[in-house]
Amino acid sequence: MREITTIAALRSELDHERSSGATVGLVPTMGFLHDGHASLIRRAASENDVVVVSVYVNPLQFAANEDLGAYPRDLDGDRAAASVAGAQLLFLPEAREMVPAAMATTVTVTGVSEGMEGSSRPSHFAGVATIVAKLFAIAGPCRAYFGEKDFQQLAVIATMARDLALPVEVIGCEIVREPDGLARSSRNVYLTPLERAAAPAIHRALLAGQRVLSETSERNATVHSVLDTVRQALDEEPLIDLDYVELVDPVTLLPVIELDRPARLCVAARLGRARLIDNLAISPPSGFGDQLDASTSGTST
Ligand code: PAJ
Repeated sequence: MREITTIAALRSELDHERSSGATVGLVPTMGFLHDGHASLIRRAASENDVVVVSVYVNPLQFAANEDLGAYPRDLDGDRAAASVAGAQLLFLPEAREMVPAAMATTVTVTGVSEGMEGSSRPSHFAGVATIVAKLFAIAGPCRAYFGEKDFQQLAVIATMARDLALPVEVIGCEIVREPDGLARSSRNVYLTPLERAAAPAIHRALLAGQRVLSETSERNATVHSVLDTVRQALDEEPLIDLDYVELVDPVTLLPVIELDRPARLCVAARLGRARLIDNLAISPPSGFGDQLDASTSGTST
């Protein structure tokens, strides 16, 4: 694996690869790589000839009161993890090139950026979209891999790439979890042993919400009962301070009113100094779709 630190060098390297017919996979990260990141890199390596992993702790996506200064870093660990997972290139850009003092441009994605993380962290997604747009501009035509762990971020980036016709195929990858269900996250290192022991309750609460659907036949009660079930499950864990639980459309991220199609159950919660997010795909109970099909099929003929 080779390391590249300038925009010009990465651009010319990837242009050169593409001119000889190679396909490029890009995995943007903020480092402190764990198995969630590694799964993205492995997938990129299985679908592309050349994989570039970027490691850059993006200051634009942290608010003044957030953990930019404390964000965990381990460059040697990142080198090893990226290389073992199959990356050929490690992009370690300089802050002065990624966010120069004269930088005057911000990329804002409306709609999907609003609500959930967008409400709790108002400038966060503009910071993400701006830096990811810049990474896409540097990398050029490629496939780019993002985790469903950050479900709203994935939607923001996919929307940006579509709206701006960026030559990048955005690919979402499944959440990687610890054996006890906790979603892997660089921020899990903030947890004390007691908090770490409490943390899997987040995933268990999501599963309890999902189970409501297999146990109900009442269509209208469903959204409320799913959300209430998650809230109650988290209420029972005193160390967990719920920020939000929402059931949203997986594409628009608008709150779901009626569960007549697949949705995403999303949670954010505080545990000590860590703020953790997680989510789960929710499918309506069998039978709901049939009712929908039956009611629309008559009008389509
Ligand atoms: P970071 O938190 O380092 O995450 C990099 C990528 O790894 C993201 O696409 C994230 O969704 C994915 N990821 C993290 N934990 C995961 C898990 N448990 N399972 C699957 N994928 C997981 O997200 C960012 O960095 C930044 O916002 C970035 C996109 C790099 C822009 O600065």
